[in-house]
Amino acid sequence: MSERHTDDFTGVETTGHEWDGIRELDNPLPRWWQWIFWACVVWSIGYWIVYPAWPLVSGYTKGMFGYSSRGEVAKEIAKAETGMEGQLEQIRQASLEQIRTNANLREFALAGGRSAFAVNCSQCHGSGAQGFKGYPNLNDDEWIWGGTIDAIAYTITHGIRNTEDEDARQSDMPAFGRDGILEKAQINDVAEYVLSMSGQSSDASAAARGKPLFTDNCAACHGENGGGSHEFGAPALNNDLWLYGGDKATIVETISKSRRGVMPAWGKHLDDATVKQLAIYVHSLGGGK
Ligand code: HEC
Ligand code: HEC
Repeated sequence: MSERHTDDFTGVETTGHEWDGIRELDNPLPRWWQWIFWACVVWSIGYWIVYPAWPLVSGYTKGMFGYSSRGEVAKEIAKAETGMEGQLEQIRQASLEQIRTNANLREFALAGGRSAFAVNCSQCHGSGAQGFKGYPNLNDDEWIWGGTIDAIAYTITHGIRNTEDEDARQSDMPAFGRDGILEKAQINDVAEYVLSMSGQSSDASAAARGKPLFTDNCAACHGENGGGSHEFGAPALNNDLWLYGGDKATIVETISKSRRGVMPAWGKHLDDATVKQLAIYVHSLGGGK
């Protein structure tokens, strides 16, 4: 430690510190630096007062307005939910037709329906509603139970052949082979006739033998020309769209053992507004009538 003294060369006083014969000049800090420094100090005091700043033993200083970024997110969510609650209330009040023809509500219902579909329906109907064997494609315009918006809403609400809802859609195709209603050869012939309705039969005489069998045993549900019936949930057989498959072996199996597709009653699992949104969404998929 040496004494403070004035540097000969610059004429500035030194700080009195000395290392290895080097002394430090005691120049004042630049004005601009000092201003910024004090401004920062003042600003930080203001910041401590207004915003959360210092950690305490348990918790932290909360600041004047109790701001927290988590609180902000919660407020945003609450705001979005009140907005959504308003829309949902409108969906609850409106008829399906009113929702479908109101651009705003329709938009809202489509978005809600799409996400509810992904959660509740895609495991059976596919994420694009394209369906799988036994699970109908909902994009095409063939409807087993009807493609009007009301028919779709009914199907979704009550489901199909389930035991949880007594208003579920019901119908049972007889198992013509298993129950001994038709002989094996007759089943072969009527299957050829079914194939002929979509132009696929390669055995014209078998198909001709099958025609009266179809009229007697099948037309009551599937229609005289195989056009199907929504009332009985009997699919059309005169086109190339198949629920279970349109190759001969599958058709023979269907006629012999029958089929019983089951769908849950969504009215028992989802709230009314969600079911409505699903109906709007499914109806919009392309084949809606
Ligand atoms: C457990 C499987 C399963 C789930 C999950 C399911 N479905 Fe289905 N759904 C079916 C089956 C099987 C059928 C066809 C029943 C039949 O053979 O008639 C069907 C038929 C339908 C039909 C009638 C189609 C027509 O051509 O008439 C609609 C509409 C439908 N489902 C909508 C939905 C919606 C919307 C959801 C989600 C809320 C859903 N399904 C969830 C199995 C399911
Ligand atoms: C009581 C009404 C009823 C009668 C009678 C009936 N069916 Fe059906 N059929 C149905 C129903 C309902 C389904 C759909 C079952 C399902 O969705 O699980 C069906 C499905 C089918 C299918 C499957 C279609 C596809 O897209 O995969 C074929 C094929 C068929 N029937 C042929 C026949 C033939 C042939 C006869 C007469 C020998 C007949 N059905 C008699 C009600 C009937």
